[in-house]
Amino acid sequence: MSYFDDVSEAAQFLRAKLGRLRPRLGIVLGSGLGAAANAVHDPVIVPYESIPHFPKSTVEGHSGRLVAGTLGGTPVVVMQGRVHFYEGYSPQDVTFPMRVMGALGIRAVILTNAAGGIVEGYKIGQLVLIADHINLMGWNPLVGPNEPRFSFNRPNGGLRFFDMSDAYSKRLRQVAIQATEMEGQTLEEGVYLAVSGPSFETPAEIRAFRTMGATLVGMSTVPETIVARHMGIEVLGISCVTNLAAGLSPTPLSHTEVFEAGKQVERKLAELLERLAMWISALVDAEP
Ligand code: HPA
Repeated sequence: MSYFDDVSEAAQFLRAKLGRLRPRLGIVLGSGLGAAANAVHDPVIVPYESIPHFPKSTVEGHSGRLVAGTLGGTPVVVMQGRVHFYEGYSPQDVTFPMRVMGALGIRAVILTNAAGGIVEGYKIGQLVLIADHINLMGWNPLVGPNEPRFSFNRPNGGLRFFDMSDAYSKRLRQVAIQATEMEGQTLEEGVYLAVSGPSFETPAEIRAFRTMGATLVGMSTVPETIVARHMGIEVLGISCVTNLAAGLSPTPLSHTEVFEAGKQVERKLAELLERLAMWISALVDAEP
């Protein structure tokens, strides 16, 4: 069985569970940010361990279940918890759930994560829109033979080489900014730099990353963005600043700090995601 066959089998299994629901939007909820899944209406909840070939999360704070239903009136599939490279998973495992969401026919995906803030001025608990990324994980999930069938008939999907200059969709970012402003709030844009982890960075690394133009640092999202773009799926990325990056805070970094800061904002994130789901459906429904 090929990787593509494994993805197809997982998608087939999920289609049977979802019945008539056809998700248009995917959402991935990061560390301690799972609350939005509770706002899904008429949820079909599928634990990762029951899905064929699906990787299971080992990190505390990732419950590991897929929740499908409607959010803000839009048919969605939400991943509550993801797996990371630092857990020992291969690049193919890390991006398997994204591939399955692609097979289910989503048009756009919202990727969320917990991130360290590299620039002065970010506040703990602030949500930042990802405008671009820098991949310093040391690998790319698409290394290996290209599989054109991963386009799943979406335009510009399945290509060996493809453009990444609009990886984080300009129009979706504009929608996110408008939706936030309507609530009387603001949403800044930043550049997310991905490392493999699991150790946090050194202060020297953070100084180097700042010079490179990064404003956020984290250990996820970038592989998912790359495979989503490979499938012709539009991406919106939202980071929750859970801590100041190494060297910027007098206290040592810890996973507990990251997790607890995530818990503080997960409600705010859930509200934003519900509004975004509503707005994005208008855009993606206008397309075939
Ligand atoms: N560094 C890397 N990943 C992270 C951080 C950080 O400071 N905070 C949350 N995820």
